[in-house]
Amino acid sequence: MDPVKNPYTPNAGATPEIVSGRDEYIQDFLVLLGRLDRGRTNQSMIIAGLRGVGKTVLLGEFRQVAEEHKWRVLELEASKHDDERFRQTIYAQLRTALYQISPTAKWGDKAKAAAQALRSFSLSIEPASGAPILSLDIPPAEGIADHGDLVLDLTDVLISIGEAAKEHGTGLVLLVDEVQFLNRSQLEAIIQAIHKTVQKKLPLTFVGAGLPQIEELAGDAKSYAERLFKFPNIGSLSFDDARTALVASAELEGVEFQNEAIYRAFELTEGYPYFIQELGYQVWAVAEGNTITLEDVEDAKDAYEAKLDSSFFRVRLDRATPLQIAYMRAMAQLGPESQKAADVAGIMERESTQLAPTRSELISMGLLYTPSHGYAGFTVPHFDRFMLRAVPDLEIPPAQKRRTRGTTES
Ligand SMILES: Nc1ncnc2c1ncn2[C@@H]1O[C@H](COP(=O)(O)OP(=O)(O)OP(=O)(O)O)[C@@H](O)[C@H]1O
Ligand SMILES: [Mg+2]
Repeated sequence: MDPVKNPYTPNAGATPEIVSGRDEYIQDFLVLLGRLDRGRTNQSMIIAGLRGVGKTVLLGEFRQVAEEHKWRVLELEASKHDDERFRQTIYAQLRTALYQISPTAKWGDKAKAAAQALRSFSLSIEPASGAPILSLDIPPAEGIADHGDLVLDLTDVLISIGEAAKEHGTGLVLLVDEVQFLNRSQLEAIIQAIHKTVQKKLPLTFVGAGLPQIEELAGDAKSYAERLFKFPNIGSLSFDDARTALVASAELEGVEFQNEAIYRAFELTEGYPYFIQELGYQVWAVAEGNTITLEDVEDAKDAYEAKLDSSFFRVRLDRATPLQIAYMRAMAQLGPESQKAADVAGIMERESTQLAPTRSELISMGLLYTPSHGYAGFTVPHFDRFMLRAVPDLEIPPAQKRRTRGTTES
């Protein structure tokens, strides 16, 4: 069918035509904003989920909802930056947020105080930063946000910006994606600052998204994080929601699906949002006429799998060292579930202590997560199947002395 009309969106963070199965979270978010608007407190949320389940898309929905309700939105994608870079990014974003809260000419006392606090915050970054920091044309506030301690400084600026937002009848949402890449001090700073703004009942909140380990990371950073946030886990879509994602998108272009085609698509994708979009996209390319049939889905299957292998899965493998690859291949051999470190080590004929650094590297790269103590699972759905396809033989790198050949599975 006409590629121009293809309604599917198999791209990271791309908002699909139909955001299926997420109404409950959008509703929760509306309640959160509504309560903060009324000066009430409410648990905020950090959305956890595997790769490709739609966390970024959901944050995008939150952004839209917040803007419709006249809230200001600050968006940040965390990456493994040191605190200096983190300060720079936060500063640049908060500065923009302050201008959005109110035009300078109309700033009330709280907004002026927030500008001074931000100016103080900027002092700690200006000298070291390569890029020029657009400073606020306002003197710094001494003793506020200039402690040289990220937790204290961020708390000061967020409180003052929250007060400015309140003064101007609006609110501010911080949407942070890939939260697992924040280091401990950055996560601690955000959590503690939000804890304070909640105590002060300010219209400012934080919603995060990241891989499943974020609940544990947040709890480690601040024990009260569990009371401050809900940690909804989003995953694959139910059959009905997956059907909606597929069928309602096609209907926008006047195209329908035969039931058998829907069942087969669900079987192949297991309802994972990214897989649905990729399969839908490939099916559209092979189908003709206005009805998508089971045959069309079968015809698109190879192209769909080849596309997943060459992009979604392959990029993860390309970043890994031979030992990391061997570790993931050994895990895959044990099956799709989370695996015990000792069992993986057993397959590799090593002690789990010897492989502990490799395992931690994979966790810190975001390829593995630890659902419970001693276990690790893939953060990418169906990655085990891919590993068995992409690396038919388990090979331990020669530098590691022993060399083992595992069973060949397909
Ligand atoms: N609710 C949904 N219904 C249908 N398709 C969706 C939905 N949410 C996301 N998608 C599609 O799934 C794909 C992945 O979405 P997104 O990038 O938001 O996932 P993610 O969880 O942020 O992944 P990652 O962890 O890799 O960043 C995109 O192609 C998007 O269009
Ligand atoms: Mg994402």
